[in-house]
Amino acid sequence: MKKDIETMTDIQLLVDNFYDKVNKDEMLSPIFNEVAKVNWEKHMPIMYKFWASTLLGEQGYVGNPMDAHFRLNEKRKLEGENFSRWKSLFVETVNELFEGEIANRAKKSAFAIADLMFYKLQNYEQSAGVNIGEIRRQ
Ligand code: HEM
Repeated sequence: MKKDIETMTDIQLLVDNFYDKVNKDEMLSPIFNEVAKVNWEKHMPIMYKFWASTLLGEQGYVGNPMDAHFRLNEKRKLEGENFSRWKSLFVETVNELFEGEIANRAKKSAFAIADLMFYKLQNYEQSAGVNIGEIRRQ
């Protein structure tokens, strides 16, 4: 029986493994590394905080995830298939490492945010000014 996601160490394991997969993925790796030219040393601690805040209620993440993706989408339009791949790698990672209530919540949140993000990128005009944090808190 695998454990659930309970501590910051668990979050780091999840996020590290997820981005390992992203970096090996033929479709997503070029988007992160060639288009966005992500500085991984900077990005990883932000992602630890984001997921710790989403799943464990930890303080620490400040930011607006939509902005980063609007900027990226302007450089290179993000397609439905990019989000499908992102979601499948995320679920695969969670399932390999964890099981339980929070693990299930991680998958549900990731899907909800990914779908909302894609929707907003497609409907940029209408959604300007609404951030993902507001919607998640409802
Ligand atoms: C095809 C799907 C996606 C791609 C290609 C993508 C790519 C990126 C890139 C390039 C960045 C900027 C990194 C940097 O600052 O250098 C970023 C930031 C981020 N992404 Fe994504 N992303 C995707 C989906 C998602 C989803 C579904 C979530 C949430 C569930 C998410 C959460 C975040 C967060 C929290 C940040 C940090 C924003 C900040 O700086 O505060 N991303 N993403």
